[in-house]
Amino acid sequence: MTKAAQPKRFAEFFAGIGLVHEALKDTGWECAYANDIDPKKESMYKGHFGESPYYHLGDVWDTPSVLKRLEERPFLATASFPCTDLSLAGHWNGFEGEASSTYFGFVNAIKELGDAKPKVIMLENVTGFLTSKGGADFVRAVTTLAELGYWVDTLVLDAKIFVPQSRPRVFVVGFHESLQSPRIIRQGQRAMFADAWQTAIDEAGTLRPQVLRKLMAETNLPTGWATLELRPPKQAKYELASVIDTGDDQDWWDKAANDKHYAMLSVLHLAEVESRRTAGGLHVGTVYRRCRNDEMRAEVRFDNLAGCLRTPRGGSARQIVIVIDDGRVRFRWMSPREYARLQGAPNFVLAENTIQSLFGFGDGVCVPVIRWMDKNILTPVYEDECVPRQAIPAKRALAK
Ligand SMILES: C[S@@+](CC[C@H](N)C(=O)[O-])C[C@H]1O[C@@H](n2cnc3c(N)ncnc32)[C@H](O)[C@@H]1O
Repeated sequence: MTKAAQPKRFAEFFAGIGLVHEALKDTGWECAYANDIDPKKESMYKGHFGESPYYHLGDVWDTPSVLKRLEERPFLATASFPCTDLSLAGHWNGFEGEASSTYFGFVNAIKELGDAKPKVIMLENVTGFLTSKGGADFVRAVTTLAELGYWVDTLVLDAKIFVPQSRPRVFVVGFHESLQSPRIIRQGQRAMFADAWQTAIDEAGTLRPQVLRKLMAETNLPTGWATLELRPPKQAKYELASVIDTGDDQDWWDKAANDKHYAMLSVLHLAEVESRRTAGGLHVGTVYRRCRNDEMRAEVRFDNLAGCLRTPRGGSARQIVIVIDDGRVRFRWMSPREYARLQGAPNFVLAENTIQSLFGFGDGVCVPVIRWMDKNILTPVYEDECVPRQAIPAKRALAK
């Protein structure tokens, strides 16, 4: 195989504060281009990564400007396009919604790159992507990639495998048909007795839940489905208490706010709190405020996980911390630093404005999840394609 001399560079569409970059930089990926429309996200990105002249603040639909700024043609393009319309909050508008349809702004830019398309594309979104319009939006998204010449893989990873946050996300990876990496297993390639692709999918188990496997089985792509030999990541050991600050120096609520939230607990949730209060010791949990039957309720969870971080639109989406310490029950808002830790970016530079930070992290990707995608898919394919074999550390080359 001839190795093209292409640097290990990527373009990050819908870059936000740059959590994809935060993960990819660990293995030497350099950002050639980042795009987002939100100046507050841009300022957080630059606060953390420094000047970043490649950051293009602008609308992804403005294809001429995108192409002008995207002078270099990177190996990889990533796109965690807005999820707003792929959930109840966005009325399930799907690709008819203004926010999530920006995916096609990204697609236009890729299409216009002609022969200089990225070799690999990675999309990330919420699991509502799989059910939006009965699966039709997902099928449209992957078919569009296939029409551009990409073989497609897809899987679901939950951040809770790596950090104490429940955050399942769908990934779609497009491998350009010109790629020669021998580790890409294309549908229809026959092994001794079975389709090698089907065998690889079966052996990857929980990476592809039933809803995803059904969609794949029902969708015939102009290229086809492809995959790598993947195994689900191992569950990390962690304690929610290790990312939540429990000391007296935190902004704990006063008695009135504490009492108000106590009163908002349902019988079941009150029992959860009371049993821990009377047991003594340290208990750390999180609380969501939800409207149930026109009444605002506080719902606690003590399962060692925070709920999925979201942007604090409307107030109720902001997470609350509950700490029970030797019988004393205290509540407070979860802090931006705790959001950063739950996204696997504990040292990320915060914005001065709390809400700005919460928006940045609430919208972001979970860094260790992207690291897993990189270690298992992106970097191996890049190295197969672009790095002479003797330059790959012996252990990794052997693992092939
Ligand atoms: C799900 S967030 C991506 C967050 C990012 N991956 C991170 O880790 O910070 C989607 C992003 O799309 C951006 N966006 C929305 N509409 C856009 C448009 N028309 N052009 C460019 N970016 C847009 C939003 O500002 C938001 O930051």
